[in-house]
Amino acid sequence: MGQKQFIESSRDQGGIVFRPGLEGVPVTHSAICDIDGIQGKLSYRGYSIEELASQSTFLETTYLLIWGELPNPQQLRDFEEEVQRHRRVSFRVRDMMKCFPATGHPMDALQSSAASLGLFYSRRAIDDPQYIYDAVVRLIAKIPTMVAAFQLIRKGQDPIQPRDDLAYSANFLYMLTEREPDPLAARILDKCLILHAEHSLNASTFSARVTASTLTDPYAVVASAVGTLAGPLHGGANEDVLAMLEEIGKPQNAANFLQKAITSKTKVMGFGHREYRVKDPRASILQGLAEELFARFGKDEMYEVAKAVEDESLLNLASKGIYPNVDFYSGLVYRKLGIPRDLFTPVFAISRVAGWLAHWREQLGANRIFRPTQIYTGFSGRSWAPPEDRSMKESN
Ligand code: CMC
Repeated sequence: MGQKQFIESSRDQGGIVFRPGLEGVPVTHSAICDIDGIQGKLSYRGYSIEELASQSTFLETTYLLIWGELPNPQQLRDFEEEVQRHRRVSFRVRDMMKCFPATGHPMDALQSSAASLGLFYSRRAIDDPQYIYDAVVRLIAKIPTMVAAFQLIRKGQDPIQPRDDLAYSANFLYMLTEREPDPLAARILDKCLILHAEHSLNASTFSARVTASTLTDPYAVVASAVGTLAGPLHGGANEDVLAMLEEIGKPQNAANFLQKAITSKTKVMGFGHREYRVKDPRASILQGLAEELFARFGKDEMYEVAKAVEDESLLNLASKGIYPNVDFYSGLVYRKLGIPRDLFTPVFAISRVAGWLAHWREQLGANRIFRPTQIYTGFSGRSWAPPEDRSMKESN
């Protein structure tokens, strides 16, 4: 039965309407992030993403997302200092990471390491504001350290310790590349983190809220969200975009590639979004950041291919409301920053922890466990038979 027919038939079952992917179904009230998918506008707590990306820092934006207001100077200083103090991860976590297979995907390493934090800080005092503050600080502080640690460990090296004199994004690049980054590179990474920090009820945030609704600990909330973000239809798309651009190879191949993708109904990676019918505003900002980096550090030849794909898409995908999303240009930015391809999604996760934690806190404020329903389509009234009495047909 096709999906559309199935939706119709579900209506017949007691008036229940089934919406695949929960499209258009509100599952919570939220005051964190607003998306206008027709105008192409995005704001966090009422501040436009353009203003935050140009004026704020990732840690200030994190504070805004989680506590609802921009911090005053003292609050910001305290938060930055606390995060800086908690950047180190226990040698036990590092030793555990050394046992991970070096060939494993860094998102799997991150999911496991994030979950392991619950073993160290397992008190579930989720009605205690100090517990919430401490958990936020630890997760925001330690996730980048764990991403960088796995990168060095899988190369057979020991992770390097964070540097207290470096700000958040500069320190991450330092721990990853073992070199103090150029200030422009650090600033651009910080802007990328702001752009990816929150995006309402995407799949990983929904996953975070579902997990939060059971009143489990925040480390489990973040670990479940990391696992959800990893998939290629969500955060994993940024890796696939670069592979796709390399496969296209040259700008003049873009038209042919798109035509083939459309004919064979293959998804073009980095395009399309459930919420936007125009170009994702984050994609426009990321494109500008890519150009800024290229002007300073030299061009990435895949940029011309990306622009050709976008130009061609205006002729054949735009009429369906399919435009570049946040993942289309982010890979080109990350590659120029020296970030390996399979770390693109972990870097997305470093940033999205802010949004997940904002939703965790909001969920706790008005919690009811998520427990949706289903439309049962299976057998009924069957009788068990011993294995020797089952026909081949039945056991298929
Ligand atoms: N390329 C070609 N056609 C597309 C694309 C695409 N990237 N995205 C959607 N479509 C078509 C799709 O084939 C379908 O056409 P038809 O109605 O003729 O069958 C129609 O648009 C609706 O597609 P859908 O898959 O039902 O839309 P959705 O809202 O369920 O999915 C999406 C949204 C983001 C998963 C999807 O656009 C997609 O798979 N994009 C490629 C992967 C990607 O770039 N993901 C990153 C998403 S943004 C960041 C994030 O969430 O992490």
